[in-house]
Amino acid sequence: MTKVGIDKISFYVPKHYIALSTLAEKQGIDPEKYSRGIGQNKIAMPSHDEDVVTLAAEAAAKIVAEEDAAKIDTVLFATESGIDQSKAAGVYVHELLKLPQRCRVVELKHACYSGTAALQLACGHVTRKPDRKVLVIASDVSRYDLASPAEATQGCGAVAMLVSANPRLLEIEATSGCHTEDIMDFWRPNYRKTPLVDGKFSTIKYLNALSGSWEDYAQQGGRDFNEMAQFCYHLPFTMMGVKAHRKLSSINKAQNDQGLIEPGMIYNREVGNCYAASLYLSLASMLDNMDADLSGRPVGLFSYGSGAVAEFFTAVVQPGYRDRLFREHHRSLLEDRTALSYEDYEAMWHTPDPQDGTSHIMPNAARGQFRLTHIDEHKRHYAAA
Ligand code: HMG
Repeated sequence: MTKVGIDKISFYVPKHYIALSTLAEKQGIDPEKYSRGIGQNKIAMPSHDEDVVTLAAEAAAKIVAEEDAAKIDTVLFATESGIDQSKAAGVYVHELLKLPQRCRVVELKHACYSGTAALQLACGHVTRKPDRKVLVIASDVSRYDLASPAEATQGCGAVAMLVSANPRLLEIEATSGCHTEDIMDFWRPNYRKTPLVDGKFSTIKYLNALSGSWEDYAQQGGRDFNEMAQFCYHLPFTMMGVKAHRKLSSINKAQNDQGLIEPGMIYNREVGNCYAASLYLSLASMLDNMDADLSGRPVGLFSYGSGAVAEFFTAVVQPGYRDRLFREHHRSLLEDRTALSYEDYEAMWHTPDPQDGTSHIMPNAARGQFRLTHIDEHKRHYAAA
């Protein structure tokens, strides 16, 4: 059977962030609550001329640039911070990247899980049509109410993956374990800009869904826990991954080895939650930051979306993968950023939202090549620099 999986992976984060130490100072609390308690350092913040479309286009441009775009016949856009209830955000990206019109584009949603749904659907498609490629993009802005307990777990970012037959980075294995349960741990009714969240309950349900997904994975004849070279988890904050790995190790009566998750948490600590993109930011972090050669080794991946849908699956790292990574680009995106004062962060948090059709021009603040230039007559206008 033809191998299918991820041929390339690249992410994008905007240049602005607020340090969690700045937030802690404003709140008058111990900054270690954030650095040690939830394991986060920074919250990536989009400027007013950035949204899930521009973040996605930036992430995808890197991997589409050198590609035979005619082979991409499908764009799957995973997000829970979409910009329209009808039109798929991926259609704007398709235009910005000048992809061929002979292409289907669709948006997928289930909280932070939708990136995995997109990846699995893409693998199914290229299994049937091995000469085609699918552009999978997960892009989200995680925003909670100011001064709420969840505020520290905000963030944003996009990850783009090219899914193909005979992939040069990771083969996605067919065996996977799923878990779905109708719960209200985190949700956002159509009339709200920020989600409602039962934070403590959500962390319990995340761990419960991990057990359920692993149990199903094992029943499907999946690999042994001890075979995995690394694990990547959905990371709303990195301490959640630490708790998840502790739980999975205990289920498998294995030693809780932090070295199996640390490389996959480095980038997420500096970005924050980017919902659908979080697991794949962790995957990019693990590939970029692992010293040992992972060629031929399986890695375990756990995806969780509140509400809740979860999946445990595996990917086998392909020989020569290191030559296909965008490690230097990724590191410079994270290093070359600007810290916001609390006041600037608060101003940036309040995104302009003209609901009466009036015209609003966005100040030029994005560092990338794609911008939301203005909103006019209820239409969003994007441009490439
Ligand atoms: P909180 O009430 O601020 O936190 O909310 P806390 O008081 O429980 O403190 C957090 C941890 O810091 C605790 O450790 C404290 O002990 C520790 P724990 O008991 O958990 O091990 N701590 C300190 N450590 C060192 N020095 C100190 C200190 N003080 C306290 N001085 C909460 C935390 C995560 C609940 C909140 O941020 C929240 O509601 N976040 C949003 C929900 C969330 O991220 N849930 C995660 C699971 S659900 C999920 O992943 C899905 C999601 O991504 C959405 C989607 O699917 O679309 C969210």
